[in-house]
Amino acid sequence: MTIQQSELMLKKLEMNTTDLRSLLDLQDKIIAGFKPDEQHFILHRTIDDFSNALKSNHMYVFGLYDGERLVSQSILSLPNDDDTREIPEYAAEYKNSELAVFKAVLVDPEYRGRGLMKQMLRIREEVAAQHGRKIAITQIAADNPASWVNAIQYGMRITKVGYDPEDNAKVIYLQKHLDNKKIQPLEEKKAYRLSLGSDVHKNVPALFNKMMSLSESGMIGTTWDKQNNQIIWYPQSNTHHHARLPKFNISTSSKAAHQI
Ligand SMILES: CC(C)(COP(=O)(O)OP(=O)(O)OC[C@H]1O[C@@H](n2cnc3c(N)ncnc32)[C@H](O)[C@@H]1OP(=O)(O)O)[C@@H](O)C(=O)NCCC(=O)NCCS
Repeated sequence: MTIQQSELMLKKLEMNTTDLRSLLDLQDKIIAGFKPDEQHFILHRTIDDFSNALKSNHMYVFGLYDGERLVSQSILSLPNDDDTREIPEYAAEYKNSELAVFKAVLVDPEYRGRGLMKQMLRIREEVAAQHGRKIAITQIAADNPASWVNAIQYGMRITKVGYDPEDNAKVIYLQKHLDNKKIQPLEEKKAYRLSLGSDVHKNVPALFNKMMSLSESGMIGTTWDKQNNQIIWYPQSNTHHHARLPKFNISTSSKAAHQI
C-alpha cells in the first residue's frame, strides 16, 4: 500500500531486509541523538521486535519516505480479543477488538516540526477507523512534552496520569474516540488552565504532580492553547468519573524503557 502525502510517500512496511534495515537505521539515528535522560522516550526495539511487528497479523508498521529515505516510522496495533493486552492498566473497560494502540512514532531530527508526527497520527486513525475500532490509546513519557503536546493538538485527550506499572516511570495516557459522536461536551465554566511555563522540561516534575491530581479528580486534558502555552482541562461528563489511580512506588531515576 502506498499513499502520496505532499512530497513524502507513505508506505506500509513489509517483512523484508530492506524495510527492516531502514527501521533499525532510523531508530539508531534517533537513539544516538537522545541525551542520556531521554533514552527512555522510546522502546529500543531489536531486530526481532521489528520482525515480529512486520509479521504480525494485527500490527501495521508505517513509514514516510523522502525518495528512498525513511524519515518517519510508526506502529499501529489492532489487537484481537485473544491477544495479550497492551498497556493493560489503561482503558480496561474496552475489549481489545475495540481498541487501536498507537506506538513508536519516530521522526528523523532533520524532518521535525513539519507535521510528520501528526501525519502518522492521522494515517493510523484512518486505518483504525476503517477496521471499526472505537478508540485510539497511547502512553507517552511525562518528560516528553514534545510528544504529548503534539498528541493533544491532534485531538487526543489526557484521561490518566500516573506511573507505568512495569517500571514506575511517569507516564501520560491519552485517548481519542474514533466515533466523533462519543466526544463529551465541555463545560467551559469549569475549565482549568495549566500553564506549561517558559521551560517545560524543567517544569515537568511539578506539571506531572499537578496533572496527576487533575486526572484523579476527574478532569481531562483536552486542548493546548498555543498562544498562552496552557493545557486546558475540563471535567469529564459525570457518567464516566473514573476511579482513583492505584499508588505505585515512585522510582526517582528510572531509566528503563517504558514507552510502547
Ligand atoms: C516527538 C516527535 C515524534 C515529534 O515529531 P514532529 O514531526 O517534529 O512533530 P510535528 O511536526 O507533527 O509537530 C510539532 C509540534 O510538536 C510540539 N513540539 C515540538 N517540539 C517541542 C518541544 N521541545 N516542546 C514542546 N512541544 C514541542 C509542538 O507542539 C509543535 O507544534 P506546532 O506544530 O504548533 O509547532 C519527534 O520529536 C521525535 O521523533 N522525537 C523522538 C522520538 C520520540 O520521542 N517519539 C515519541 C514517542 S511517544
